[in-house]
Parts: sequence; C-alpha cells; structure tokens
Amino acid sequence: VKAAVFASGTGSNFQAIIEAESMACEIAVLVCDQPGATVIEKAEAYGVPVFSFRAKDFSSKEHYEQEIVSWLKKDGVEWIFLAGYMRICGPTLLRAFKERIVNIHPSLLPDFPGKDAIGQAFKAKADITGVTVHYIDEGIDTGPIIAQQEVPVMPGDSEETLKKRIQAVEHQLYPATINELILTK
Ligand code: GRF
Repeated sequence: VKAAVFASGTGSNFQAIIEAESMACEIAVLVCDQPGATVIEKAEAYGVPVFSFRAKDFSSKEHYEQEIVSWLKKDGVEWIFLAGYMRICGPTLLRAFKERIVNIHPSLLPDFPGKDAIGQAFKAKADITGVTVHYIDEGIDTGPIIAQQEVPVMPGDSEETLKKRIQAVEHQLYPATINELILTK
C-alpha cells in the first residue's frame, strides 16, 4: 500500500513513520508547501520523492490541489497522512481521498484545536493534554477521532519539556495508528 506524507516543518513525525518497524505502507512521496523546510532534506536522505510547491505560484487552492491529486493518483497513492502540514485541505483533495486523509494534532481534541496547541494547553494550565489522530474534514482539527493518548503536564514543566513529552508520544502513536488503519480499512 502506498501512502503520502504531507509536512511543512521539521519532519520529526515524517521521520518516525519512515523509521517505524514493519509498516504496512510505503511512503511513496512527501508533499510539502514550504520549499525550504527541513523535512525536505529528511525525505531526500531517505530517498523519498518530494513534491514541493508554493501556493502563490497557483491561481487557487483548487489548482494546486488538482496538481497534487494527479501526482498521487499517478503514483497509486491510497492514503494521505498529514504531519505538520499547515494548510486546510479543500474539496478537491477531500473528494479525491474520501476517508483516506488523516492528521495528527498535539492535544486531546476537541480541546486546543488550531495553531500552537501545546502552547495553548500550557497557558491554560491544563493538567492533562495529549495527542489525537483524526480524519480530516473541511474544518480545522474537527474530523472524526481515530486514536488519542493522554500526556500529563508535570509540575515544573516548561513549554519545551511538555513539547518533548508530547512529541515522543506522537512518534509512537502515529505509526501504530497508521498501521492499524491500513490493515483494517
Ligand atoms: C506535530 O506536533 C503535529 O502534531 C502537528 O505538527 C507538528 C509537526 O511536527 N500537526 P514535526 O514537523 O513532525 O516535527
């Protein structure tokens, strides 16, 4: 089974997926909307083909999404895993990959959706936050939840130490959930 990862940042989740043992899918392409992002170097180091683009080079979201969809379909990609892709998926992508686009978010949704979820939880003095893997719909972090894992906020935590603990959970939970999805759907 072929899958694509969409990421625009450092790519620690991309790396965790690539390095996870006995994955049920092959990561056939990285899609990235930030041509300077660190995740691109990681993909190159692992020999994963990269499709990078700048949204401003296209006249609309529909146009760049059409381009992405034709790339992925040509490659036989069946699943899309978002890992720090900072764009909202539009109808073109959602229709082409119905119930096949999944995201990871660093909070227990529906708490702390949107940007800087870790900072939001920290500032709200939450005792417990966590990680959510969910399907994508047209909203921001609103699609059906697939898996969640709690992460405690410890006394003396800084935003940085909390982030480290959350990311360690992400790096286990995302590959495991991806495998389960592919083997059962
Ligand atoms: C992760 O925290 C993920 O939950 C969120 O974006 C971040 C990506 O980090 N959607 P990285 O680029 O995988 O390190």
